[in-house]
Amino acid sequence: MAKTVTVEEYVAASAGVQLAEVFGAIAGAAREIEWKIRLAGLSDVYGAFGAVNVQGEQQQKLDVFANDLLTQTLGALPQVAAIVSEEDEGPVVFDRKGGTDGDAKFVVIFDPLDGSSNIDVNVNVGTIFSVVRLHGDVVASVLKPGTEQVAAGYVLYGPAAVLVITTGSGVAAFTLDEDGKFLLTAEAMKMPEQGPYYSANEANAASWPAAYREYLLGLLRGELGGNAYSARYIGSLVADFHRTLLKGGVFLYPHTDKAPQGKLRLLYEANPLAMIAEQADGAAVNGATRILEVQAERIHQRTPLVIGSRREVEALQKAVQKAALKDAGEAK
Ligand code: AHG
Ligand code: MN
Ligand code: MN
Repeated sequence: MAKTVTVEEYVAASAGVQLAEVFGAIAGAAREIEWKIRLAGLSDVYGAFGAVNVQGEQQQKLDVFANDLLTQTLGALPQVAAIVSEEDEGPVVFDRKGGTDGDAKFVVIFDPLDGSSNIDVNVNVGTIFSVVRLHGDVVASVLKPGTEQVAAGYVLYGPAAVLVITTGSGVAAFTLDEDGKFLLTAEAMKMPEQGPYYSANEANAASWPAAYREYLLGLLRGELGGNAYSARYIGSLVADFHRTLLKGGVFLYPHTDKAPQGKLRLLYEANPLAMIAEQADGAAVNGATRILEVQAERIHQRTPLVIGSRREVEALQKAVQKAALKDAGEAK
């Protein structure tokens, strides 16, 4: 029987105890969230919480439960200076006066419950997180390009609860066992170079920039080679990304008339998944630009996101850059 390795042990060996404890706190919160989701029908956690968050979205009870739990478990660690959450207006800065100087090293940025619209219909939801180093001011520490992330990961709550992480040296996956531990089940994960799936909310296609529509039609006509494509769209970013990581292909959420800056958020959706994608030899762009090089200006900044296998993402990036040059030429 192979020796089982917990996520805390794995991170301690590759990135040190301080970061391992952060992953341990996230794993502990994820275990509680998974339990709450699995038994949601038997307790009163379905439905709306009755408040609107900073995004102007109806908070689901599970959004609030997950947010409060992650804030509390991470707040208990002296090395965590603050958290930034999709559900809060600004950072929650922990009082570290009691600790010795220099204890507080990290800021954890997270989407506590991703795919909220799927909670009540028993479809996969997730948690996404990003870890950055504290450099003086909390806001200044988080408003940096995604290349500055020290670690990133997500939990996918589904038939199995899977925690996928990177600390900058490859991607590993851990599965929640019956004793509540996340045990190593895959490492050095690599995204297929080209995949059979594309994933997009095609109800928005009429308001995508034309280059995206032409790109997708080209893909479906076989212009990129490879096998014929199938469509898969779950509506929970974490689930759509996890399938893309394992099977390959491309997820696209371009900007639309309804969301002119894009719908997904840079700091706690696009950046962490982009770090994982690149660590697995995939890619992530906002159209023309690599996601991890985007300089964040605001905590809840939205971005278009195209993420997945290198071949599809690079082809999209070229198509968007070519369209921009053409538009610029015509504008002269
Ligand atoms: P969240 O539940 O954290 O607000 O995220 C929802 C996001 C993401 O999970 C998903 O990819 C996207 O919303 C789906 O958007 P559409 O319903 O517009 O397709
Ligand atoms: Mn989300
Ligand atoms: Mn969310």
